[in-house]
Amino acid sequence: MERSNLAGPRPAEPLAGLADRLRTARRISVLTGAGISAASGVPTFRGEDGLWRQYRPEELATARAFERDPALLWEWYGWRRETIARCSPNAAHDVLARWSRGGDRTTVVTQNVDDLHLKADTERLVRLHGSIWELSCSIGCCAEGRSGWRDERVPMPGVPRCRHCDAPARPAVVWFGEMLAEADLRAAVQATACDVFLTVGTSSVVYPAAGLVEQAHANGAFTAEINAEATPATVVVDLAIHAPAEVVLPEIDRLLL
Ligand code: OAD
Repeated sequence: MERSNLAGPRPAEPLAGLADRLRTARRISVLTGAGISAASGVPTFRGEDGLWRQYRPEELATARAFERDPALLWEWYGWRRETIARCSPNAAHDVLARWSRGGDRTTVVTQNVDDLHLKADTERLVRLHGSIWELSCSIGCCAEGRSGWRDERVPMPGVPRCRHCDAPARPAVVWFGEMLAEADLRAAVQATACDVFLTVGTSSVVYPAAGLVEQAHANGAFTAEINAEATPATVVVDLAIHAPAEVVLPEIDRLLL
């Protein structure tokens, strides 16, 4: 594994090598996590200012917590929605969106629920953990209630109700202990059959997303990590670049020209 740190001497070579691989790749897959949205102002979960330092995931990100106190959960999600509503895609989202629009060779798989990849007009986006801007019925009353609907109200007036059965509605995000949507997981696994796999802005600790880079590596892809710090994926990838995504991705994009 090669290491590179943009804070030190300029590592033109590893980036140029990666750009060469991207230029000739028939299929490129990118897995993103909260770090890609950090420069947009969306708090990450782990790391120095991570949300999970102040809050306990099991109190705020589980179906049980919702059943116990839907109003508390909606207060937390309402706060996150207000924060995210003020955020715009940054240079890293923009580069990936541009790659996704230049033919169909690039797939972006994200763990983020902020929809900033969508806002940047990313095509073929797989949203593994759902969207904070979509709601679904907490009791799964009918097919439509289960599949969810978009609701971008900010602030959210109290606990929203299911538009079909009037039960409390929940954010259509994947909570701890819940399964990912089958179609999304299938699409993410399919994306590991690629020539280059990038893992960007993720601590690589939450499965099954964290396993995708290993799977891509096993499938013969060239794998690279772009993250502010080392993660469990660092020892798996062919190239680790520990620097901000909003700096590294535009740099690679320039080398592609
Ligand atoms: P984390 O908060 O766990 O990790 C974010 C990573 O991004 C950290 O390793 C940071 O060092 C890094 N980082 C911060 N700023 C960065 C920048 N500007 N450029 C590059 N990297 C940066 O977020 P995720 O890995 O996405 O799950 O977390 C995975 C899942 O855990 C989330 O989807 C969420 C959470 O609990 C659910 O909600 C189901």
